Amino acid sequence: MQRRILSFMNSHGHPTFPEFLKALDANPVLYDAFFKHLTINVSQFFRDTKQWETLRETIIPLLLQSKNPLKLWSAGCSSGQEPYSLAMTLMNHSSTAKFTVLGTDIDVNVLQQAKDGLYRQNDFASTPPEFLQKYFTPSDKGYQINDPVKRQVTFQHQNLLTDRFQSGFDFIACRNVVIYFTDEAKEMLYKKFTDALRPGGILFTGSTEHLFGMNHLGLKAVSSFFYQKQ
Ligand SMILES: C[S@@+](CC[C@H](N)C(=O)[O-])C[C@H]1O[C@@H](n2cnc3c(N)ncnc32)[C@H](O)[C@@H]1O
Repeated sequence: MQRRILSFMNSHGHPTFPEFLKALDANPVLYDAFFKHLTINVSQFFRDTKQWETLRETIIPLLLQSKNPLKLWSAGCSSGQEPYSLAMTLMNHSSTAKFTVLGTDIDVNVLQQAKDGLYRQNDFASTPPEFLQKYFTPSDKGYQINDPVKRQVTFQHQNLLTDRFQSGFDFIACRNVVIYFTDEAKEMLYKKFTDALRPGGILFTGSTEHLFGMNHLGLKAVSSFFYQKQ
């Protein structure tokens, strides 16, 4: 985090933290650019193929066995690739699966892109071809997500570190978001996620985010990167 802040300060000609803080206060354009620099929004549909296979083959059937409709949440959803991937996975799994997906992010710009639902070729590097065919309409601007998928997903602005969470989720994906959070912030966040899950609900983390030493939260690993609330 320090490296990212310093690189921004250097490239914008701000020599010290106090001077930089003053400049941020005085200049909304600089503030927006800095905000963008810090919230890294890289995402992709079905990012980390292996985990999505586990989700399709093991986790979704497990969840649907015990409950229908399901309530899912993609926390730190960037421009919508992750919540739409969840919706497509469920729709493809079963035409009788009922569910809603909530996508939240701190960055209003990416949320607008998510609501627009227009994507480019490189968003699909990990997407099974049949999903692209089935759930998107190609146009000269890119690939537009189809309305039936869009209708399943709602987007909201939210700061995971300070805002209240809804509860009763069957599934929460929070992936590649906490990478720059302090250990205290991570611990607090995983506690809030656990509280927001129903017993038996699943937390899906990013492929570098293991919940080592968090047994006290009451989460048990059911597969790599999938944790079930006890
Ligand atoms: C690298 S993207 C991850 C997107 C998606 N989860 C994935 O794995 O492909 C990280 C997202 O987390 C969001 N984010 C960072 N800090 C946040 C916070 N405190 N509250 C909510 N979202 C946050 C960023 O705006 C960004 O869109």
